[in-house]
Amino acid sequence: MPNLPISVIAIDGPTASGKGTVAHKVADRLGFHYLDSGALYRLTALMAQRRATALNDEHALAKLAEHLPASFVGGEILLANENVTQAIRAEEVGNLASRIAVLPSVRQALFGLQLGFRKAPGLVADGRDMGTVIFPHAQLKVFLTASVEARAQRRYKQLIDKGFSANMEDLLADLQARDERDTQRAIAPLVPAEGAFLLDTSNMTAEQAIDEVLRLYAQSK
Ligand code: DC
Repeated sequence: MPNLPISVIAIDGPTASGKGTVAHKVADRLGFHYLDSGALYRLTALMAQRRATALNDEHALAKLAEHLPASFVGGEILLANENVTQAIRAEEVGNLASRIAVLPSVRQALFGLQLGFRKAPGLVADGRDMGTVIFPHAQLKVFLTASVEARAQRRYKQLIDKGFSANMEDLLADLQARDERDTQRAIAPLVPAEGAFLLDTSNMTAEQAIDEVLRLYAQSK
C-alpha cells in the first residue's frame, strides 16, 4: 500500500476564541489526533509556578519545557502521574504561560515534541503558531477568532462552569493584555499564516464553526 501523506489541520487564534473546542471536535469527527499546544506552555508554566522558577531564568524554564513529564490520556492531561487537566486552565497559569511563551529557548524546547504529534491518519493542531512555524505545510490552515467581548463571555462561562471564580472586567483586561503579548512578541507571534482561512466565530455556535472547518477541509482535498 502506498504511504499516504499525513494530513495536518492547523487552527490558530487568540485566547478564548473557541479554537480548543472546535479543534478537538474536528479531530473527533475525522478520527484524527489532536494537539493542544497551549497545554504544553501551560504545563511548563504550572511547573515553573510550583518550583518558583524566576521568569527571567530562561535556561531553567527551557529545561522544564524540554523534560516535561506530560502525557495526554483520553481527554485528560497528566504531569508525571498527577491529573492537571483542570489546574492548567486557571487564569494565573494561562497568564504565566503567555509570559513564558515569549522566550525563544522555551519555544525551541517544545518544537520537536509538537512535531511528534503528527501521526497517521492525521492531526488537528491548535495554538498560535501551528500554521506559521510548527506545521507550515499543513493541508488546511484556519485562523479562528472572535471579538474580545465574545471571548470574555465565553471564558467567563468556562471558568464558572469549572468552579473557578471570575470577574468580567478583569477577564477583559487579561484577554487584552494576552492578545497584546501574543501578537507583539518577536518570535512566532500570533498572526494568520499565509493561506489561512479567517473564521470569525463571534456570532457562530461551536457546531457551526466545526462544520465550517470540516467543509474547508473537504474542499482542500
Ligand atoms: O491556547 P492557550 O490559552 O491554552 O495558550 C496559553 C498561552 O500559551 C498563550 O497565551 C500563548 C502560549 N502559546 C503559544 O505561545 N504558542 C502556542 N502554539 C500555543 C500557546
